[in-house]
Amino acid sequence: MSKLPAIAFSKTAATNKGTVVFFVVEKGKLPSAASAFDKDGRLSNAMAVAEFAGAFGAKVEIIAPEKGLDRIIVLGLGDLDGVDEDGWMKLGGKIFASKGKSASVSVITDLEGKTELSAPNIAKIAGGAKLRAYSFDNYLTKKKDKPTACKITFVTKDDAGAKKAWKISDAVTDGVIFARDLVNEPANILGPVEFAQKAAGLKKLGCDVQILDEKKLKSEKMGALLGVAQGSVRPARVVIIQWKGGKAKDKPVAFVGKGVVFDSGGISIKPAGGMEDMKGDMGGAAAVCGVMHALSARKAKVNVIGIIGLVENMVDGNAQRPGDIVVSRSGQTIEVLNTDAEGRLVLADLLDYCEEKFKPKFMVNLATLTGAIIVALGNSHAGLFSNDDNLSSQLTKAGLDTKEKLWRLPLGAEYDKLIDSKNADMKNIGGRLAGSITAAQFLQRFVKDTPWAHLDIAGTAMGSPKNEYSQGWASGFGVRLLNRLVANDYE
Ligand code: BES
Ligand code: ZN
Ligand code: ZN
Repeated sequence: MSKLPAIAFSKTAATNKGTVVFFVVEKGKLPSAASAFDKDGRLSNAMAVAEFAGAFGAKVEIIAPEKGLDRIIVLGLGDLDGVDEDGWMKLGGKIFASKGKSASVSVITDLEGKTELSAPNIAKIAGGAKLRAYSFDNYLTKKKDKPTACKITFVTKDDAGAKKAWKISDAVTDGVIFARDLVNEPANILGPVEFAQKAAGLKKLGCDVQILDEKKLKSEKMGALLGVAQGSVRPARVVIIQWKGGKAKDKPVAFVGKGVVFDSGGISIKPAGGMEDMKGDMGGAAAVCGVMHALSARKAKVNVIGIIGLVENMVDGNAQRPGDIVVSRSGQTIEVLNTDAEGRLVLADLLDYCEEKFKPKFMVNLATLTGAIIVALGNSHAGLFSNDDNLSSQLTKAGLDTKEKLWRLPLGAEYDKLIDSKNADMKNIGGRLAGSITAAQFLQRFVKDTPWAHLDIAGTAMGSPKNEYSQGWASGFGVRLLNRLVANDYE
């Protein structure tokens, strides 16, 4: 992984070296702390010439104004009250991107007048900078231009408060980075067994982690999940991760993830073009691991279950065939008409297991489930399907708060009947129309009476547009969203 910046907070800082950053609100002035850097009015002149008026994200920079000082940067905050989590993170991303090779960055949090940025907002800026710094470059043995080590110091009177806020924010940031790493890692390195080992690393943060091997999955009668795995030489795993931060008697909340480490399509094989992207077909499981990291590292006061189903969907003499009928853990039979609609088969057994074993308050599953969701919503909203209006609106709100946005699509009997089959209780595809909805209907058949939501993250977990704090292929989508859902409504 790339060199991530060290983050520090201090009442004072050596601001005569590296990069120094100031903030200005819309139509505001430089803070008094900037006057030492405005020799001969060089900074105010630059702002005037650039017609800088403090609009959100606007930037003025002076390069190498004196020996030792690489850059002075002024960033616009626009209307301060209008800046949300995403906005603060974008500013952090911008700071990291603008610092060039400076090894030291001082961010002055004083604003014009006597105010300064609040501790939680400083922590969000720091998170944006760290996420911007992330790149997946482990395998670039010859890359000369690897990012160098860097320390970002936030200068604030409330350094203790900022440090405290950063502990929380950094837990979430590291959860996002954990998820991105899992998604980016190629499938030859990260099979089901290796993925399960990575998840077991959450024990260090105080989570209980239980790994179910093939023998156990057979005894659990997870026939739908095992049918997908049978074409791979690498055995399936299911991992149950528990964080018990709430009261012992409180029912847990549950997050369930699709973890297809590689989806070739199986016998219904995918076309060659772009098939490499299917190393990321475990984005749901990665998000579950990421949010379990976030919640346990920040010691969230909630009981949470994370369940991930890890399989590889391959083509092989033992692979399942179109037309095969499998018996799911719930007892319902499934005619597999397309082996590429495998994610729902994995999730079916996990949802059934989760509801029966843990009787959770709710279940949210995340899955790179359908190409059709990308056709419907593109890359900037994940699809949301739910049997519960309350859970649905809590998720939508968390999506708006974090800008990991969701868009609800319908469920209904008209769609449900499209997956009825002549030969079994259901088939695993619905036909040409409403592909994301029929996939969701399929999942719903494995949920009894627990509030449940399905997030189709095929368009958002990977290959989504870059922004100031997400520059790579894997975004880590879902980690900040679910962390926020818990923080807003369940602790
Ligand atoms: N993993 C894919 C969905 C996907 C597509 C994820 C593109 C990310 C990017 C899923 O298993 C799949 O192949 N779905 C099929 C379902 C179809 C056979 C009913 C699809 O979307 O084409
Ligand atoms: Zn598939
Ligand atoms: Zn898939």
